[in-house]
Amino acid sequence: MEHYVVKGGNPLSGEVEISGAKNAALAILAASVMADQPVKIENVPDVSDIRAIVGAIEQIGGQVDHPDRHTYCINGAFVRDEPVDNDAVRKIRGSYYLIGALLGKFNQAKVALPGGCDIGLRPIDQHLKGFRALGATVRLVPPGMVWASAQTLTGSHIYMDVVSVGATINIIMASVMAKGNTIIENAAKEPHVVDLANFLNSMGARIRGAGTDVIRIRGVEKLHGTEYSIIPDQIEAGTYMFAAAATRGDVTIRNVIPKHLECLTAKLKETGCEITESDDAVRVVAVRRLTHTNVKTLPYPGFPTDMQPQIGVLLSLAKGTSIITESIFENRFKYTDELAKMGASVRVEGNTAIIEGVEGFTGANMNAPDLRAGAALVTAALAATGYSDIYDIHYIERGYEDFPEKLRALGACIAKVNTAEEERKAVNSFNIRIVG
Ligand code: UD1
Repeated sequence: MEHYVVKGGNPLSGEVEISGAKNAALAILAASVMADQPVKIENVPDVSDIRAIVGAIEQIGGQVDHPDRHTYCINGAFVRDEPVDNDAVRKIRGSYYLIGALLGKFNQAKVALPGGCDIGLRPIDQHLKGFRALGATVRLVPPGMVWASAQTLTGSHIYMDVVSVGATINIIMASVMAKGNTIIENAAKEPHVVDLANFLNSMGARIRGAGTDVIRIRGVEKLHGTEYSIIPDQIEAGTYMFAAAATRGDVTIRNVIPKHLECLTAKLKETGCEITESDDAVRVVAVRRLTHTNVKTLPYPGFPTDMQPQIGVLLSLAKGTSIITESIFENRFKYTDELAKMGASVRVEGNTAIIEGVEGFTGANMNAPDLRAGAALVTAALAATGYSDIYDIHYIERGYEDFPEKLRALGACIAKVNTAEEERKAVNSFNIRIVG
């Protein structure tokens, strides 16, 4: 079975280049079908979630050209007003952006309910509330599809009951070509909301206030072609920052927007890391054992829930008792059972994890429970003594481009293997590297 084999114990050191933001790219690729002209999108990460949404766009007639690994040219002129449904669409979360995009373009959309990581209930009531406020009739219809339809979409004043990234983006897309003005209050402020708004504005949309909690949209007649480059991935960058800290390494993370990483650098400083920022890079140095801290996940600019497993690993190795409060998703501590196999001491009570830091981990066989937790377990294995095998890596490949390759370039001993023979060869190569 395909898995990662890891030999831990090497502090990570060197430089790593961050890819484009997966969650921004999912929204922007979906929005690209709204124009009837070609759109060129650069800095798209090469990960399986992206291939899934591109496949869905092709299935409904979108012309997709893929001139290099990180660039897509999409022409939405031939996109058909058809149901969007296939296995891949049902597995990823970001496919729900096709509801807002197609509703905005055709006043009608029928899209399979999204999947995504099993980290909680993940309702989409706020998305549907927004579509209804714009004048759409919305129903859940068999087989597990969202159907939304409107004579005319009309701008509206929408107050979101919870701060939702997905609902904010979906409502923006459904309203950019609606008649009149839309105001979204209590909007999500995540960097990818801003990136999506910038992308749509470059296509002629009139969106103001993205990045604040009040977004104002003036409906335009149509959108035109554009060229756009996706922002760097805040969570990929954060994962390498925390991996550097957990292995007591020295890593410079390049092609980042340091502003997007402030809540992460603040926490790393609290634990005793040294952080140096430049225009588009952050260097993380951890020379000694880190110390405990407390953290609560919150919407941006708070500490991101997508970094909660990574900080859980770090604090499990830090001196003292730390408390993590998960306030966004109710089922996001599953990774702590896997971490216990390595010797971590974590007690979960509801949405709180109480962590007694241990001196070190020992390698173990683990299953990635979801995308971010999977990456965090790899980090733990890198910090452990001995070997670990990590299974269900398809989760990790949904969101991390070249994960083993980038880690190897930082001195990690990690390989993706499929057979016992491949594993034996990988382990031999680790030992040669260490001796050499
Ligand atoms: C997105 C990200 C995900 C990240 C999350 C929070 C994508 C593809 N996924 O997920 O990686 O972990 O933001 O930063 O971009 N909620 C409702 N009703 C709704 C929508 C959301 O109650 O209609 C709740 C959710 O259950 C959750 C909270 O709002 O408790 C935030 O969810 P949301 O921001 O919508 O997350 P996603 O868009 O699913």
